Amino acid sequence: MHRLDPQKLPRHVAVIMDGNGRWAQKRLLNRVAGHEAGAESVRAVVRSCREIGIPYLTLYAFSKENWQRPRTEVEALWRLLKRFIRSELPELMEREIRVCHLGDAEGIPEDVLREVQNAVAQTASFRALTVNLALNYGGRHEIVRAARLLMEAVHHGTRRPEDLTPELFATYLFTADIPDPDLLIRTSGECRISNFLLWQLAYTELYITETLWPDFREEQFIEAVREYQRRERRFGKTGEQIRCEP
Ligand code: IPE
Ligand code: IPE
Ligand code: MG
Repeated sequence: MHRLDPQKLPRHVAVIMDGNGRWAQKRLLNRVAGHEAGAESVRAVVRSCREIGIPYLTLYAFSKENWQRPRTEVEALWRLLKRFIRSELPELMEREIRVCHLGDAEGIPEDVLREVQNAVAQTASFRALTVNLALNYGGRHEIVRAARLLMEAVHHGTRRPEDLTPELFATYLFTADIPDPDLLIRTSGECRISNFLLWQLAYTELYITETLWPDFREEQFIEAVREYQRRERRFGKTGEQIRCEP
């Protein structure tokens, strides 16, 4: 039993899955062994979200900046991602979980992209849970891409600059149809955003834990949601206003 308040569940949880390398180093293992162990945590958190009834989960799996890692690690990460998506697809389908991709398709190795696109297509009709995989993703890239699309629309006369609002801008992001995250979890203690969902995290509750990603399982996930439920979200108002609202 997780004893969470069903009235105060986050609609969308985003996770910066960090600390695989340190987990492996502590055990005198290769960093890639840490990524492999981290895959088990992905499985646990996806299952947990599905069971609790959280409708959106976004996982930061490969950033634009991660291309700068040693080539062998980059290759191992993509190989692992491909294998993981392929092996998880039957269970995702069985549990009616939809997979979406956030990030640029261009740049992702072709065989991996095919696997991602296949998972997205096969699960497109499911709504029990949406898992967004942030792959080849960068927050600034996403914002610049949206700005470019808008500029093109203005150029073609389908938009006018004076129509631009934050709500309209958001429809040009990868997350157009997805609510902003209520909770951001970052494992392994780093207190930074690392170019993740820069626009969407404007009012998100942040939860940073020292636990390394491969050690972050259902129990730790539920504790993060429990901590979220203890927070008072004010959105600029006073605490009194929030507590008096119906
Ligand atoms: C997160 O773990 C996984 C990815 C970035 C893909 P790291 O590999 O960043 O682990 P640390 O930060 O080196 O411990
Ligand atoms: C963020 O982790 C990216 C992912 C989890 C995919 P990093 O380990 O790459 O972040 P920095 O570079 O330490 O900020
Ligand atoms: Mg890291």
